Amino acid sequence: MRTVPVLWMLLLVIAASMKTYAQAQPSIIPGEIWPDTEGKPINAHGGGILYYKDTYYWYGEIKKDSTWRVPGSTWENYRVNAGGISCYSSKDLLHWKYEGVALASEKTDSTADLHISKVIERPKVIYNRKTGKFVMWMHIDSQDYLYARSGVAVSDKPEGPFQYMGSVRPNGNMARDMTIFQDDDGKAYHFYSSEENQTMHICELTADYLSHTSNDRRILIQQAREAPAVVKYNKRFYLFSSGCTGWSPNAASYATADSIMGEWTQHQNPCQGKDADSTFHAQSTFVLPVQGQQNIFIFMADRWNKTDLESSRYVWLPLIFDAESMPHILWKDQWTIE
Ligand code: GAL
Repeated sequence: MRTVPVLWMLLLVIAASMKTYAQAQPSIIPGEIWPDTEGKPINAHGGGILYYKDTYYWYGEIKKDSTWRVPGSTWENYRVNAGGISCYSSKDLLHWKYEGVALASEKTDSTADLHISKVIERPKVIYNRKTGKFVMWMHIDSQDYLYARSGVAVSDKPEGPFQYMGSVRPNGNMARDMTIFQDDDGKAYHFYSSEENQTMHICELTADYLSHTSNDRRILIQQAREAPAVVKYNKRFYLFSSGCTGWSPNAASYATADSIMGEWTQHQNPCQGKDADSTFHAQSTFVLPVQGQQNIFIFMADRWNKTDLESSRYVWLPLIFDAESMPHILWKDQWTIE
């Protein structure tokens, strides 16, 4: 009879070690399923990362359940019900703990911006030192993408819940794919694809980050760029972007400027190696400076699976700057941050 508890103990030890094994993610494997610390696939697409008090917070679109094509659409308008925005936290950028839904979508009021029938994409969160608030900006749209607005939400805690404040067309302009860049002086800028996605805009946000100033500049005019991701290196600004081909990948490019409001100069594809001409079958979403490192950045991209959006994957790759301060993104089957 005494063997029974011993057996149970043994089974528990085996089960615990198997769970640890399932959670172990010793390296970044671009394009593979990335499990969170509970072993569930991370669901945070079109995402961005906030670093706050020794912790990284990853926010992204929750894409769940069936994908369908919007009836009558003349382009490949595949979508899922808007699932809101998720949040994950990590100390090492490898092991991600699910923190829950940071911004929930709305199930009943079909007129609401956050209704499941709408589009909630590319969330980016920054922390405002003056107000002590976490501010999330995101692309809000109708399912035909004609609404073309930017939504803003606020929270007292990084993991949320965020409170939705509403959406705008910045200075009256259409706004779709977007990112937020926070400069060292505390000023924040909204980069958004505008004018039917043909021209990018940069707009300085107000000091509380909750609205737009009139300091709004057109850049990359008629160059049809989207999926912006911005980083600063050696006092220079770098804007990575994709072309406009919906969920299908295309070649990335980047632009540089010595001051954020320009002049911006376009350069060629920073990706190198096999499949560089399709950004390794992915589309930019964020560039993350690794804390405490001089020249280590992570290029974050989404490998969309347009007919099954929930199965879209993450392609994270090292981005390095050469002696001339030109960026290079190299394919790796598997890599670690060191
Ligand atoms: C892409 C955009 C995505 C999503 C998609 C819809 O161009 O970058 O965020 O909006 O179009 O087709």
